[in-house]
Amino acid sequence: MKGVILISGSGSNLQSIIDNASIIDLKIEAVISNNKDAFGLQRAQKSNIPTHSIDHKSFSSREEFDQSLSQLIDQYNPDIIILAGFMRILTAEFTQKYTGKIINIHPSLLPKFQGLNTHQRALDAGEKEHGVSVHFVTSELDGGPIIAQSSVEVLIDDTVESLAKRVLIEEHKLFPKVIHWYTQGRLKLSGSNATLDGKVL
Ligand code: GRF
Repeated sequence: MKGVILISGSGSNLQSIIDNASIIDLKIEAVISNNKDAFGLQRAQKSNIPTHSIDHKSFSSREEFDQSLSQLIDQYNPDIIILAGFMRILTAEFTQKYTGKIINIHPSLLPKFQGLNTHQRALDAGEKEHGVSVHFVTSELDGGPIIAQSSVEVLIDDTVESLAKRVLIEEHKLFPKVIHWYTQGRLKLSGSNATLDGKVL
């Protein structure tokens, strides 16, 4: 299957997808960032993947940015759009256009800690467990049907950095696995549920 990956930063999840691309039958057609300095763009270039940056600040509205992003994505006619650390809220118009073919990775055990600073918030709340979720994207921020999660124990002396590091290790394993389910045609969005082999997840 053909995928387009959207990033905003370091791109360590992108790297894990690049490293697993042949195993998970994904042809990465392009990597797009809203931040031209995102290190992930260099990772993609190193693997000869076409890259684009579209600066959201040069658009006067969220709608205009999303329309331009959508036009760029459509040039590649992807089967799947992968948000791998893409730090922009997308309009409902955009998410609805790609319903069922856009997935996101979020560093918390959703529905806990939607939005930003998830590791700090998990520590502040005294959580014993924290982790990562992969979900289908809908117009509700970090609120679409959950596909899979992976958890880590929160340790007594954890800092944001140490916790984030352990969660990232799980992210790098979970995301390629979920993408593979999708490229195998096993993972679908059915109404408001994610299903694997026809069974609700
Ligand atoms: C990850 O923690 C991901 O879950 C979140 O943003 C971070 C991106 O990290 N959405 P990276 O750019 O993949 O290293």
